[in-house]
Amino acid sequence: MKTLLLCLGMLFSLSHSQELEPEEGGTEEVVDLFTTPTTKMAAATSDFGYNLFRQLATRDPKSSFLLSPISISAALTQLSMGASSKAERQLYRVLRYHTLQDSQLHDTLRDLLSAIRAPGKGLNSAARVYLDKTEMRIKLEYLNAVEKQYGVRPKALMGGARDQREINDWVKQQTGSKVDRFLSSPLPRNAGVVPLGAAYFKGQWVTKFSQSGQMDNFQVDGAPSAQVPMMKQERYPIKLGSDSDLGCTIAQVQMQGDISMVFFLPDEVTMNMTLIEESLSAEFVQDLAHTLHPVQVDLSLPVLKLSYSTDLLPLLSDMGLSEWLAQTDLVKITTLAAKVNSVRHKVVLETSPEGSQNTGSNPDSTSNSHLSFHVNRPFMFLVRDETSGALLFIGKVLNPRDLA
Ligand SMILES: *[C@@H]1O[C@H](CO)[C@@H](O)[C@H](O)[C@H]1NC(C)=O
Repeated sequence: MKTLLLCLGMLFSLSHSQELEPEEGGTEEVVDLFTTPTTKMAAATSDFGYNLFRQLATRDPKSSFLLSPISISAALTQLSMGASSKAERQLYRVLRYHTLQDSQLHDTLRDLLSAIRAPGKGLNSAARVYLDKTEMRIKLEYLNAVEKQYGVRPKALMGGARDQREINDWVKQQTGSKVDRFLSSPLPRNAGVVPLGAAYFKGQWVTKFSQSGQMDNFQVDGAPSAQVPMMKQERYPIKLGSDSDLGCTIAQVQMQGDISMVFFLPDEVTMNMTLIEESLSAEFVQDLAHTLHPVQVDLSLPVLKLSYSTDLLPLLSDMGLSEWLAQTDLVKITTLAAKVNSVRHKVVLETSPEGSQNTGSNPDSTSNSHLSFHVNRPFMFLVRDETSGALLFIGKVLNPRDLA
């Protein structure tokens, strides 16, 4: 049982245990939190995202990073349309689609992607499959099918430096010029099949910050403090809880477009966030909405401009795709053996103090001038679409300057 405690001068615990406890003795009852095809799909892509995040954290425990996993779900799903049924099953398992039993899976994903990219949510994301045609003959039916379903046509590469420019221009155009220089170097010869995902997020808070830009200390594990610009606001309405099992405080800050940003702030200055990482799931995050308390706090957040780029192929291999990578079986793309040699990902995220409301317009929340939440040491965060439950971004920030 997990108990969330909130410190308000005294401690009181939230009773939310009934729904989480399996029936004693009997078979474990699965609580169906996700009831529509869209929320189920959102939960599946989120769980894929948390798994990807954990793999990266395990491989690279001392690094800051940032991912927009749903763009990778989208790219790999486009790829799955070219796969044999065995290869499709292998991909679906890693993407968590095997839990869905959704015969309209592609339509559900298409609708979800279009919902989270609605104007006002602050997300630009792009996913596409590139195919090196110097090595293989590509089947037109595949290009047509993906374009018809997802509105983006897989693109043939000619080999050479022109491919880099072509890909970078496309990503830049899809992300409102915010994700620039997607590939920092040309693709290798015989690039094979290159799925890619890119995303940019800049949301608007519901409640604005009156102070912004002042440099402040950000504590760093095992290194001197960094100086980072902060935004601050007193009596800021958030949802807050302290999780003693995870050794962290959790705050949910509302953004426009029914988006929220959730911060996990360990009690200690530490780069070891293993406990938090391991607890993350679509269900755990969905439950936070019920377990956190609406309060007003003295809030300070770093003004962020983060950028991160990586090749996710090794992580996907660790997540259960190594067998598929050895034999991709992309029989609907080409009759030859097609290699996937990289899965490129680049994301950019910004925060700014802007919002539509001033503080003091939320009469429901507990007002207590002593309560504060200062994100001035290593933290994790996620950006979530509350309407569908989809995870849009997830990051671990040991020092904001690492991701400049
Ligand atoms: C990180 O924290 C976990 C849980 O507290 C602990 O088991 C693990 O040994 C720690 N890892 C490192 C590298 O200190």
